[in-house]
Amino acid sequence: MKLKVKNFNVKINNKDILNNININFKKNSIHALIGPSGCGKSTFLKSINRMNDLIDKFTFDGNIFLDDKNIYDIDEVSLRKKVGMVFQKATPFPKSIFENVAYGLRIHGIKDKKFINKKVKESLKASALWDEVKDKLNSSALNLSGGQQQRLCIARTIAVNPDVILMDEPCSALDPISTFKIEDLIQKLKRKYTIVLVTHNMQQAKRVSDFTSFFLNGHVIESGKTNQIFLNPKKEKTESYISGRFG
Ligand SMILES: Nc1ncnc2c1ncn2[C@@H]1O[C@H](COP(=O)(O)OP(=O)(O)OP(=O)(O)O)[C@@H](O)[C@H]1O
Ligand SMILES: [Mg+2]
Repeated sequence: MKLKVKNFNVKINNKDILNNININFKKNSIHALIGPSGCGKSTFLKSINRMNDLIDKFTFDGNIFLDDKNIYDIDEVSLRKKVGMVFQKATPFPKSIFENVAYGLRIHGIKDKKFINKKVKESLKASALWDEVKDKLNSSALNLSGGQQQRLCIARTIAVNPDVILMDEPCSALDPISTFKIEDLIQKLKRKYTIVLVTHNMQQAKRVSDFTSFFLNGHVIESGKTNQIFLNPKKEKTESYISGRFG
C-alpha cells in the first residue's frame, strides 16, 4: 500500500507544528523519521492514523492518501485497521497474552474461535515471540519482559492485517539484545508491510531503514535514500544533525 503525504500542515493552539510536509512512503520499505526532540515526528506519525483528531485545538490542511484514498474519507475504525501503531513504551492490556493479540480481531467483530486461535498463533510467530510464550498464552501479558511486551504489541498490531505500521521509537526503552530482536523483526516485516519508524538512534536508522526523512522545527529538511542521507547529505543542517553537532 502506498502512503502519500501532500502539502500537509498542522497547527495546535494556532501554533505551527508541521509545515508543508511532502513525503511518499514506498510499499515494502522502512522509512525512518529522524530529528531533534520536539521537531514534530510523533505529531506527524499520529496524523497518519488520525490520532491527533483527539487533541483539542488541532487543525490541519493538506492531504494524506492511502493508495490514492484520502484518509479522511475512510472511517476511523477501518483506517486504524489499515494503519497500525506501536509506541515507545509497550502498552499491553492487563489481560492474558492470548487476549492481547485477539483483541484487535474481536473489536473488528470476529467471533470464529478457530480463526482467532490461528491468527493469534500466526501473529505471535510473525513477531518472533511464539517460542517464548507458547506454553503460557493464558498468563498475564504484564509478566513479560519489556522487549517481549513490545513484540506482543507488534503481534497485536499485525493480527488485523494492516498495510502500514507506524512505530514511534519502539526500542528506546529496550536493552541492546531486545533492540536487536525488534530490528531484526522490523526488517522481516517489511516484506509484507510499509513501515514508518521514528528513531533517535542514528545507528538504528542506518541499520534498518531504506529511506530517511530529517525533520527540524516542523519542516522536512531532507528526504532520501538512507545511504544518501547519511553518507552524502545535501543540506548543511542534515550534515550537522547526523554528525551530532546539535539535537
Ligand atoms: N497535545 C499537544 N498539545 C500541545 N502541543 C503539542 C501537543 N502534542 C505535541 N505538541 C507540540 O508539538 C511539537 C512537536 O511535538 P512532537 O511530540 O511531535 O515532537 P517529537 O519530534 O516527537 O519529539 P520527541 O523526539 O521528543 O518525541 C512540540 O512543540 C510539542 O510541544
Ligand atoms: Mg515523539
